[in-house]
Amino acid sequence: MMCEEVRAIISTIQTDGVQSTQPDDEDQESSVLHIVGNSRLSGHVPISGAKNSTLAIMAGALLSSDGCRITNVPSLADVQRMIDILSALGIKIDRDGDALDIDASHIGQSSAPYELVSKLRASFFAIGPVLARLGVARIPLPGGCAIGARPVDLHVRGLQAMGADVQIEHGIVQAYSRQPGGRLRGAKIYLDYPSVGATETLMMAATLAEGETIIENAAQEPEVVDLADFCIAMGAKIQGAGTKTIYIDGVDRMHATEYAIIPDRIEAGTFMVAAAITKSILDISPVVPDHLTAVIAKLQEIGAKVSYESPTCLRVEGSDCHRGTDIETLPYPGFPTDMQAQFMALLTLSEGNSVVKETVFENRLQHVAELCRMGANIRLKGNIAVVTGVPTLSGAPVTATDLRASAALVLAGLAAQGETQIKGLHHLDRGYDRIEHKLRQLGANIYRTSEAPVA
Ligand code: EPZ
Repeated sequence: MMCEEVRAIISTIQTDGVQSTQPDDEDQESSVLHIVGNSRLSGHVPISGAKNSTLAIMAGALLSSDGCRITNVPSLADVQRMIDILSALGIKIDRDGDALDIDASHIGQSSAPYELVSKLRASFFAIGPVLARLGVARIPLPGGCAIGARPVDLHVRGLQAMGADVQIEHGIVQAYSRQPGGRLRGAKIYLDYPSVGATETLMMAATLAEGETIIENAAQEPEVVDLADFCIAMGAKIQGAGTKTIYIDGVDRMHATEYAIIPDRIEAGTFMVAAAITKSILDISPVVPDHLTAVIAKLQEIGAKVSYESPTCLRVEGSDCHRGTDIETLPYPGFPTDMQAQFMALLTLSEGNSVVKETVFENRLQHVAELCRMGANIRLKGNIAVVTGVPTLSGAPVTATDLRASAALVLAGLAAQGETQIKGLHHLDRGYDRIEHKLRQLGANIYRTSEAPVA
């Protein structure tokens, strides 16, 4: 199937790549978020579309040669990065408010910017759809990040099981299907770990493969289900998404669709913790309460009251939050690793000792040092943090190390005595849609300045 398009892909992704159209990271790096803490919040928080659904579904849009429209898309730096990467693959994408119109009728003359792929792990998920559509794909390795090495061995092994020849050379994953006509073949795949990304990559690749694919020990996260529902809306035959075993019957092609992204459960959880840590009452919507079962249970354990104002609106009352609790992060439906840092900020002010164990990523406790700068009492032992509650935190200059760590520092700043200045805001802007605007609407004293470079 070595058509022009395929040749265009094979000459693909140069590692020099096109320049990003990102807002300049340096600007964000010189910005500072100022928070004067210890004030109550009140009101309603609007929750945006889910970042981790949006990024996977944007890659999934490549499966359809008829184009599609995705709505409820959050305004995030990571979404813009994904737009840049898909545009570099020759995909036409138009942003229309909170909607994206994606026309993937032609994938070609790709030169996905290496420096972007290495910064946005989710861009690697494009390998499944591109390989499924064209029979060949070359995507730079996403590389590690602050929270871990982030390998892609489960993605690669699954694609190999589906008949792809996959080589990794000079930091580029090169895959092509050995099958006649370049079409992947269905396979039975067991994932050593219920990886969200590997489940999504292989599910997408399987939608256009010949025959049935079974993914066992699959990730069950709501974002996996959202991606499956999106693919089904385009004509895919998928059953079992959200369970440990997913069945996909390959189809010949996918058609256009319009699809709305689910609410972001991690943004919602972050604002639920904001209510608890400031001992406020907040209404949070839209949410899917079933996506927040573990977070709700843990908030109730420490004394928060969580009630349902409507099927899609939660009310969190934090006035009685004082007890400690233990947290162990696990694949869904366990306590989400993406909420670990935020919850730890809350536990720094809870009575007694709380034990936080991070089991999903090998290096996702870097927020501990910064929280200690604000007066928290936390002892680290490998992937376990023992948090001993203190009466108050004190505002201080701190630096964010990764996306969820930055959210934890914002939460700590909201509760601290005095002013906290947070740097490293490019992390925060990756995953939170206008967070300081939403907090100001609730009465928080929070504003951003761009720090003049030191002369
Ligand atoms: C997704 O990352 C999310 N990102 C992460 O959210 C989230 O923390 C993570 O799932 C877990 O829920 C997106 O969806 C864009 P994994 P992903 O593959 O797919 C290991 C945030 O803050 N692993 O489930 O990369 C891996 O090293 C971000 O919004 C392999 O060993 O996560 C990790 O230890 C952070 N080999 C564990 O599995 C592989 O081939 C879980 O990773 C793949 C993963």
